[in-house]
Amino acid sequence: MATSSAPLAPRFPVLETKRLLLREITLDDAEFWMRNFSDPDVIELTAYEPPRDLEAAKSEILQFCIRPFRESTGIRWGIALRGNPDLMGTLGYHQWVREGAHRARMGYDLLREHRRKGIMTEAVRAALGYGFTTMGLHRVEALTDPANAASLRLVERLGFHRDGTLRENTFFRGRFIDDVVFSLLRQEWAAAAQANR
Ligand SMILES: CC(C)(COP(=O)(O)OP(=O)(O)OC[C@H]1O[C@@H](n2cnc3c(N)ncnc32)[C@H](O)[C@@H]1OP(=O)(O)O)[C@@H](O)C(=O)NCCC(=O)NCCS
Repeated sequence: MATSSAPLAPRFPVLETKRLLLREITLDDAEFWMRNFSDPDVIELTAYEPPRDLEAAKSEILQFCIRPFRESTGIRWGIALRGNPDLMGTLGYHQWVREGAHRARMGYDLLREHRRKGIMTEAVRAALGYGFTTMGLHRVEALTDPANAASLRLVERLGFHRDGTLRENTFFRGRFIDDVVFSLLRQEWAAAAQANR
């Protein structure tokens, strides 16, 4: 189990699933990053403005991917199909509390042409396995806009519990938005993994 002083892993952990390779995101992925985070849905549903240009995309990769892993404060994988290095989306953990509560928040996004094919279900399952084992998490949480039907369904089908609503918790483009909080506990994940064997 990871402790607060130890690095998460000496090398970036690549995860493999039946169809996918979850790999490190590098500055060479700036074009993908720019395209992915310029999608109107992704902007609206993640409540995050798109990068202005490739340099801004590189800064975001440093801020949200490279530094968190280097400093062991979180991890974000790029999602690719096995045998094709091009990224289709990202997912990962941030707001990682390594001592005591052992919790982290999960985020995910996918280019629209790859949606509704079960890709994020497969990717999140792999990331949950990593989180509950190697990262030693006790609780994984996901916050979502109540209007985000895809995200709501994704976490529900993965067995997350709906904890409640943080009213007007996010402010984006001039309006306050609710966040629905979902969580999955280690024992729930372990029971589901056991049942699916
Ligand atoms: C949320 C998102 C990552 C889902 O990825 P995905 O690979 O399309 O999801 P999956 O194909 O694994 O589908 C998971 C479940 O959600 C359902 N679903 C997917 N898209 C849906 C939609 N637009 N409306 C309703 N249900 C949807 C699927 O049918 C599936 O449920 P089922 O197994 O009961 O059929 C993707 O829609 C996305 O990137 N959206 C924009 C970014 C975003 O919203 N990020 C999350 C911010 S909180």
